[in-house]
Amino acid sequence: MSSLGNKFVLPAKFAGSETTVWEEFIQLAIENKPLNLGQGFPDFAAPQHVTKALADIVTGENVLLQQYTRGYGHPRLVAVLSKLYSKLVSREINPHNEVIVTAGAYEALYNSILGHVTSGDEVILIEPFFDCYEPMVKLAGGTPVYIPLRPTKTSGTILSSDWKLDPEELAGKFNKNTKAIILNTPHNPLGKVFTVEELNTIADLCKKWNVLCISDEVYEWLVFKPYKHVRICTLPGMWERTISIGSGGKTFSVTGWKTGWAYGPAELLRNLFIVHQNSINSCNTPTQEAIAQGLELELGRFGQPGCYLQSLAVELEKKRDFAAKFLREVGMIPVIPEGGYFMIADWSPLAGKVKLEQETDKYMDYRFAKWMTKNIKLQGIPPSAFYCTEHKNLAENYIRYCFIKKDENLQKAEDILKKWIGGYGKL
Ligand SMILES: Cc1ncc(COP(=O)(O)O)c(C=O)c1O
Repeated sequence: MSSLGNKFVLPAKFAGSETTVWEEFIQLAIENKPLNLGQGFPDFAAPQHVTKALADIVTGENVLLQQYTRGYGHPRLVAVLSKLYSKLVSREINPHNEVIVTAGAYEALYNSILGHVTSGDEVILIEPFFDCYEPMVKLAGGTPVYIPLRPTKTSGTILSSDWKLDPEELAGKFNKNTKAIILNTPHNPLGKVFTVEELNTIADLCKKWNVLCISDEVYEWLVFKPYKHVRICTLPGMWERTISIGSGGKTFSVTGWKTGWAYGPAELLRNLFIVHQNSINSCNTPTQEAIAQGLELELGRFGQPGCYLQSLAVELEKKRDFAAKFLREVGMIPVIPEGGYFMIADWSPLAGKVKLEQETDKYMDYRFAKWMTKNIKLQGIPPSAFYCTEHKNLAENYIRYCFIKKDENLQKAEDILKKWIGGYGKL
């Protein structure tokens, strides 16, 4: 035994959060070199005006852009964010105290949760949920309360809008200890874009029980026609109880830049400022400046054909349709997303083709995802990672694929699957 003894064991507040699906599947990808439709990022170039802006910033004459900037957000970035969102939510947003820039949307979530949730608080998580919500709530001392979206249709074409919350079940999750609900629209992994009626149901309960809504809207620009992204903070009585979260990485296809933000009323944002100044303190200056320049340009051509905020979804819709088609052709049952860049598909019709007994995981979706990565060389993510232990069984028949990939890579995915199925693949 080491001379350190037990003094440095992991603090109990992290119990149960030791591993993530990402750690496991990134390692699996390194070892097996599959075609990776697992992690959520584009494999094609970001808009040139944004990457060029960053190159110019780091090699340019303004040496101060290589130094610390304002802790709560680089002035040029908070200025354009307040301008953009003031327009989108039809109210004046103060760039100084109603916007904060964070190390990705991830940190905005962390600050919202750590800044508002404390022991004894309950936080409602809608399943499937982006997996970091749960450990963050636990770290804050809160208790997650889970409610699954359930498919309301079992045959024919299934859309992500067919996955719904039961309003009565939802109402039953709220009580005097409820501090917050975390909403994600457009949704990862379902691609569901919550309708205004669904958002009103959530909003009414938030108002009834005086509950904070943390609204994760990182895929706000990735919505397919005819669906519309509705910001819950724009519903009556919701501005004062909503923190809305966005991501520069998702907006401009530069996920590695890890630059995100939150906006909302100063009273709620203040707690996020305090978590931020006592942890991260200030985010890196060059990416903030580049994203600011990028947003200024897009704001200037908002609503016009070249605007990236709107054109990426048009490109992506074709990729969605392509992926849905080949998943269907090989026998899976895709759930057609209305937004975002993920699609889940029911793989159970292919159960006879996979040797799940070769894997040892408890949940079948993990076995399927691993077996496919190792043997067929196509990687997806097991969606039970986005459920609490008691509900993981609800996701066992599904796999999540990311379709924001080059057409040639989506074609490769089709070829891999069809060759495996014994169809008409081109390999
Ligand atoms: C729903 C959701 N929220 C937040 C994030 C994190 O965003 P960022 O990369 O800006 O930290 C992601 C990333 O995949 C996500 O899917």
